[in-house]
Amino acid sequence: MEVVARAKVNLALGVVGRRPDGYHDLVSVFARLDLADRLTVGPPGDGDRLVVAGGPIDYRPAADDLVLRAVELLRRACLPHAPGLTVRLEKYVPLAAGLGGGSADAAAALDLAARAWGFQLTGDVRLALAAQLGSDVPFLAADIEAALVTGRGESVAPLPGPLDPVGILLVTAGAGLATRDVFDAWAAAPPRRAATGGSGSVGADRARDLAARLGAGCTAADLVAAAPDLRDANDLWSASIRLRPDLVELRDVLERRLGRAILLSGSGPTLLALYPSRAAAETAATSLTADPVLGLAVAAIRAATFGRTTREAP
Ligand code: C5P
Repeated sequence: MEVVARAKVNLALGVVGRRPDGYHDLVSVFARLDLADRLTVGPPGDGDRLVVAGGPIDYRPAADDLVLRAVELLRRACLPHAPGLTVRLEKYVPLAAGLGGGSADAAAALDLAARAWGFQLTGDVRLALAAQLGSDVPFLAADIEAALVTGRGESVAPLPGPLDPVGILLVTAGAGLATRDVFDAWAAAPPRRAATGGSGSVGADRARDLAARLGAGCTAADLVAAAPDLRDANDLWSASIRLRPDLVELRDVLERRLGRAILLSGSGPTLLALYPSRAAAETAATSLTADPVLGLAVAAIRAATFGRTTREAP
């Protein structure tokens, strides 16, 4: 029994204000990737256990890892006497990178535990539990390619993915960024609102435009053409670069080298570029990895795909 925990990127992310509960209201287009961690059930031990069992990412989970919290949450909600579960995790998604890796693992752990205990989680229960685990988890718990996500993350309006798969180059450099720190930095100095004629948040306006394009059925080429508009469509950029000033230079270098708009995913620090195909993103990844300066300085350079690679039968 294996559950695949696919990561995400944000193609636009608006922060529309701080809420009384300390979270922030967002308007964001989330896109699901094929880059994924893998979870399986391991041999039983005492209580619940999380064992990292492979993958290129060095991960040492804490005792309160979100995967274990997901297993315990499901037990308390659905099956209080369920036996202890060992979760084996193969880690491929960089940590604290703005790719939702930990949240995707938690979403997958809900399904894995349910299956191991002999039942299947259905939509509403899965979403309610997901929302308790974190703001990104509801989108990642839904089996969809894209969504316009609002509220603190719990409100997920599914969107069709692109008509053909989009290649995505992911560049994750240096230490990770804690989402909380980036939102705190945003709240400490909220950007002055531009007179956009929309919500006052550039990210939110661009997210809504992009959602409309996806809704109307756009191709990979359409998305690549829209990338320059998405470059500044992440309202967390200014906060992220306060914590990681090196991202400014890295973005400049990548834009010069690749001749493409570079976007920030989530709260960072992963930077990304859009390509008309997976193969084109792979070629770009190979050229960056071979670069004697960049290839060494950057921890993870990956090619991924947004959008299903095989069309469903009509
Ligand atoms: O929901 P999650 O636990 O993943 O969020 C981590 C932190 O990110 C929160 O504690 C909060 O500080 C910040 N956050 C936020 N607004 C959101 C999502 C996350 O302020 N919509």
